Amino acid sequence: DAAEKGDYRHFMLKEIHEQSRVVQATMEGRLTDRRVLEQALGTDAENLLQDVRHVQIIACGTSYHAGMVARYWIEELAGIPCSVEVASEFRYRKHVIQPDTLFLCISQSGETADTLAALRQAKEAGFRAALAICNVPGSSLVRESDLVIMTQAGPEIGVASTKAFTTQLTALLLFTLALARRNGLPEAEEADMVQALRQVPGQIDQVLALDTPIARLSEAFVDKHHSLFLGRGSQFPVALEGALKLKEISYIHAEAYPAGELKHGPLALVDSEMPVVTVAPNNALMEKLRSNLEEVRARGGELFVFADEAVGLAEEPGVHVMNMPSVHPITAPIVYTIPLQLLSYHVAVLKGTDVDQPRNLAKSVTVE
Ligand code: G6P
Repeated sequence: DAAEKGDYRHFMLKEIHEQSRVVQATMEGRLTDRRVLEQALGTDAENLLQDVRHVQIIACGTSYHAGMVARYWIEELAGIPCSVEVASEFRYRKHVIQPDTLFLCISQSGETADTLAALRQAKEAGFRAALAICNVPGSSLVRESDLVIMTQAGPEIGVASTKAFTTQLTALLLFTLALARRNGLPEAEEADMVQALRQVPGQIDQVLALDTPIARLSEAFVDKHHSLFLGRGSQFPVALEGALKLKEISYIHAEAYPAGELKHGPLALVDSEMPVVTVAPNNALMEKLRSNLEEVRARGGELFVFADEAVGLAEEPGVHVMNMPSVHPITAPIVYTIPLQLLSYHVAVLKGTDVDQPRNLAKSVTVE
């Protein structure tokens, strides 16, 4: 056990640190300098992607958050409507299936009971084809899908998923770009995104270098019982994933909200006992986010902001700013996930919880 962990204290920390390598491995052989190689997404990719007019994504847990990010990408870059739903809800309701809908399951293990049940139903229900994004070759999901894009995360031992998530995002962005090209994404824009994707492993390493200052920030959470995570746009699912990580391993109640919903409820909870974590890459929504942050400050809430250094947010009493490298808005969700993983990890270590095997949770939920 100890040998496999190498010099790391926990599998989760080891897996967090593997992310630049496994994200790189997931794009390896699937990109040129300017474009995604569609054939590398599977022999049948060309045929199956041909007439896709709608995408239905199904997943559970962290994989569901990856699906939520993908929805922003698919609608923005491919201009195709995309719905996302947790498998346990999807499988128990009636659906209106649009013609030529691709059914897309995301699962680290490929054995999650609800996801498999949803897939089996979908096959009867008239979806065009089933695509799987999965980390385990030979899993039930892989065997039962028409097209598979494997993530190359390697075995993930920590129950709280980390490297599986960032490799899922990588695979989903590759898929989105392939779909987008068929739907009119200009060559130059694809090249721009491919370049952005190629920079992600280096940017992940830059964020991992913030480990010590993030560990210091984590001290402010140890004696707290509640926390709020805010993000806008494709950073909202990143906030959800950050909150899930904190819940899973530190047992601190964490809620994520799209920042614009703050005044519709959660603002009533904000006081000095409620740390507010925000992810703020320098994108079009930054100015709006800035005013949300002021609202939190005005109620005495303590802010922990992970912001693009170009945003120029100042440290002040009650506002802790962690400067992040400048990243392309499209790839920002991948990079901004990393500091939130580190934050949860360090809070859990300080609280002395069982980081790799949190109470009541299983790595793979194979029964309903
Ligand atoms: C469990 C795990 C999570 C995971 C979820 C979905 O709840 O603890 O980390 O995200 O299952 O698993 P899957 O293997 O389908 O991605």
